[in-house]
Amino acid sequence: MYIQARYFIRTALIYLLIAFLVGGLVLINQGLQLHNRIGVLLPVFYHLLMVGWATQLICGVALWMFPVYSKEQPRGDERLGWFTYGTLNVGLLLRAFFEPLHIWVGGWGWTLALSALLQVSAIWVFVIAIWPRVKIRSRKG
Ligand code: HEM
Repeated sequence: MYIQARYFIRTALIYLLIAFLVGGLVLINQGLQLHNRIGVLLPVFYHLLMVGWATQLICGVALWMFPVYSKEQPRGDERLGWFTYGTLNVGLLLRAFFEPLHIWVGGWGWTLALSALLQVSAIWVFVIAIWPRVKIRSRKG
């Protein structure tokens, strides 16, 4: 498997495990009222699952399997894919750590702004990377 896709897909699988742990904890807390602060982790669960797992898996498979860009550069400029990988994951991790902290103890607002900037950049650059590969598989390569 193409190395960049392996990074995306393995990281997505790790998020799947973590998201289910966090989601399980939130659900257990809803049932047993362990601690009223745990409910704050609900949006963390959503975003770990939908950004970390689903979006990342789709990006990885698309970068791997979509029609080639050209014979010389089958996947176009691969730096764009690495940019997406880095910014998506750093942005999501920032959110996962600092969104609850921001609510529990205050402060850290700038990390959420940075997280948003990174995740939005990740997806814009992903679309720029993949756009030219959405085409009829007409050429060999
Ligand atoms: C596949 C992608 C995404 C899905 C399916 C998704 C889903 C959700 C859901 C279900 C909520 C409601 C949470 C709640 O009410 O407890 C939410 C809240 C929110 N999401 Fe997303 N989200 C996605 C990506 C993003 C990204 C990339 C950003 C920012 C760059 C973002 C920013 C927010 C904000 C600001 C809120 C409201 C505040 C909060 O409850 O944390 N989301 N999202």
